[in-house]
Amino acid sequence: MSKKIVAIVGSYRKEGTIDAAVEAILAGARERGAATHTIYLTEQHIEFCRNCRTCTQEPGAKRHKCPHHDDMEPILEEIEAADAVVLGSPVNCGNVTAIFRRFLERLLGSFYWPWGQPAPKLRKVPSKRKAVLVASSAMPGPMIPLFTGTMGALRLTAKALHAKPVGRMCIGLSSGEVHHALSARRLARARRLGMRLAA
Ligand SMILES: Cc1cc2nc3c(=O)[nH]c(=O)nc-3n(C[C@H](O)[C@H](O)[C@H](O)COP(=O)(O)O)c2cc1C
Repeated sequence: MSKKIVAIVGSYRKEGTIDAAVEAILAGARERGAATHTIYLTEQHIEFCRNCRTCTQEPGAKRHKCPHHDDMEPILEEIEAADAVVLGSPVNCGNVTAIFRRFLERLLGSFYWPWGQPAPKLRKVPSKRKAVLVASSAMPGPMIPLFTGTMGALRLTAKALHAKPVGRMCIGLSSGEVHHALSARRLARARRLGMRLAA
């Protein structure tokens, strides 16, 4: 059966570096027969988490619903039905973008965290979901995991989505021109990662 892959784009613009890299990954996955869908966070109605912690109070594997009535629930249902996720965000002010962070904070229901318990515990959910993490920056790519919190935030997002990272791309020096063209090497790597997600 063909694999279902959902991408979350946390960039503020379409056809920017993140969008292009995510699309190259998905194109690789489609070559292997996967069905793909890209969710642009800029187009979603997602409220801020209000720390009411309704979603974290009950133990067990089940994520409890958030009292907000916005686009998060259908997004989560789609991810829960998917075999893999691609999570992409530019480095903004040393971390993921504000819209990506807002999405991440709304994943709190993946954790059991009743009032009085000092730290959240990830709910135990059997999952074979895979993830590829994509970040882009003005600084050179190897500096992203060393000097920013971006990869940590993308990894935490994958964890909350019960997805195991199987690859990542750190695309640096991407703000030299309005639309940074991905090199042939990067495009080939993106394609390989997509194929890995579809395997
Ligand atoms: C508000 C803002 C903050 C940024 N902060 C950083 C930063 O801290 N470090 C960095 O290397 N690049 C930073 N950048 C550059 C972006 O990470 C870079 O242009 C990115 O590749 C944009 O992705 P996009 O093409 O998908 O929009 C920032 C850009 C903006 C607009």
